[in-house]
Amino acid sequence: MTTTTETYGVDPNPTPLALLLLGREADPRSERGVECPGDLPAASDPDLVERARAAKEKLGDRVFILGHHYQRDEVIEFADVTGDSFKLARDAAARPEAEYIVFCGVHFMAESADILTSEAQQVVLPDLAAGCSMADMATAEQVAECWDVLSDAGIADVTVPVSYMNSSADIKAFTGKHGGTICTSSNAKRALEWAFEQGQKVLFLPDQHLGRNTAVLEMGFSLEDCVLYNPHKPNGGLTAEELRNAKMILWRGHCSVHGRFNLQSVEEVRERIPGVTVLVHPECKHEVVTAADMVGSTEYIIKALDAAEPGSKWAIGTELNLVRRLAKAHPDKEVVFLDRTVCFCSTMNRIDLPHLVWALESLVEGRVPNVITVDPETEKYAKAALDRMLALP
Ligand code: 13P
Ligand code: SF4
Repeated sequence: MTTTTETYGVDPNPTPLALLLLGREADPRSERGVECPGDLPAASDPDLVERARAAKEKLGDRVFILGHHYQRDEVIEFADVTGDSFKLARDAAARPEAEYIVFCGVHFMAESADILTSEAQQVVLPDLAAGCSMADMATAEQVAECWDVLSDAGIADVTVPVSYMNSSADIKAFTGKHGGTICTSSNAKRALEWAFEQGQKVLFLPDQHLGRNTAVLEMGFSLEDCVLYNPHKPNGGLTAEELRNAKMILWRGHCSVHGRFNLQSVEEVRERIPGVTVLVHPECKHEVVTAADMVGSTEYIIKALDAAEPGSKWAIGTELNLVRRLAKAHPDKEVVFLDRTVCFCSTMNRIDLPHLVWALESLVEGRVPNVITVDPETEKYAKAALDRMLALP
C-alpha cells in the first residue's frame, strides 16, 4: 500500500487556516499562527537551562528580558523583570541602553515595546505565533467601518476611543489619530475618567468585559448605558438611536481564557471552600465579576495575595501559570484556581524554553530573530495614544 497524506486523512492541500492552526505560514492581518523560522533545540535537551543561562550571560547588558505574568515558570526564571502589560510597557521604555528587548509575552506587547523604545533597540518575540485572540477580534478595517457608522449616527465628534493594551498597533494608531488613549486593566478607570472629560461617549476596544466592568462597577454607569457593537453585523447590529443614547459603545471582543470562567465556577468554589475569597481579573464576564469578592489586574491580584492573612483562602480567576506560581509563593495560604476546566493561555504558552534558548543563542551568534517592527506612520499615532496613557494621573 502506498502511504499518502490522504491515507492518514490529512488534506494534501491544506487551507491557509489549517496552516495557521499548525503554526505555519503567515497571515499579516492576524496575530495568530505566523511561521516561526529557525532550528529550535529539542524540548528534551537536558542542557536547555544551562544554554539559556550561558547565552544570557554572554549577552550581558545588551539584552533585557521581559516576562509577562502569564508566562511559563521555565521562561519567568530568565526574565529580568516580570509584570502585567502596563508595567512591562513602562519597563521597556526605561531601558534605553539594552540593544535587544526579548519580550516573553504576546505579539501586541512586543509591538508596544517597539513603539516605546528607541530606533536603536530591537524587540524580539521568541515565537512569532504568540499572538492574542482578543487582539485579533478588532481589525483596522472593522474599526474604520465602525467609525463611519458612528459618523453617520452623528456621534463620532463626541466619541473618544479608549483601546485596551491588548490590541494591535493598527488599533492603537486609530485610537491616537482620533484623540483617544490606551488603557490596561490597572488603569482602565483613570483612562475612562480622562476620556469622559474629553467627550460625551467612549468607544471601548476590543474587550467588552473590561469596558463594561469598569464603566458599571467603577464609574457608576448602568448596564443600559452600554451597547455592544458587533463588527460582524451591519451597523454593528445597532440603530442610530441606540448609539446616540449610549454612553459606552463596547466592541464585541473578549479574552478566550478569562471569558470561560462562569457563575457556576464561583458558586461551586464557595460551596467547596467555605470562607473563600473569590478574586478575578476584569476580563471576566460581568456576572462573574459581580459574583466575586474582589476584582483587579494581574498586578493587583499579586499584591492582594502578598497582603493576605496567613491561613486565608483564595480562589483566583486568571491565567493558570500565574495562579500556580501564587499558590507556590504562598504556602501559608490556600490558593486555588477558580475553575476546574479553564486552561492556560495557549498563545502565551507558545514561548517556552526551546524558543527562548533559540532566540538568545541567535543573538549571541549575531543574528536578530523574530524582530517586531511597527511602521513609522502607525508608530507615530500609536505612540500618541500610548503616551496619553503613560501621562494619565
Ligand atoms: P494585564 O497584563 O493588563 O493584567 O492583562 C492580562 C492579559 O490578558 C494579558 O494578555
Ligand atoms: Fe489574549 Fe487572553 Fe491570552 Fe491575554 S490571556 S494574551 S487577552 S487570549
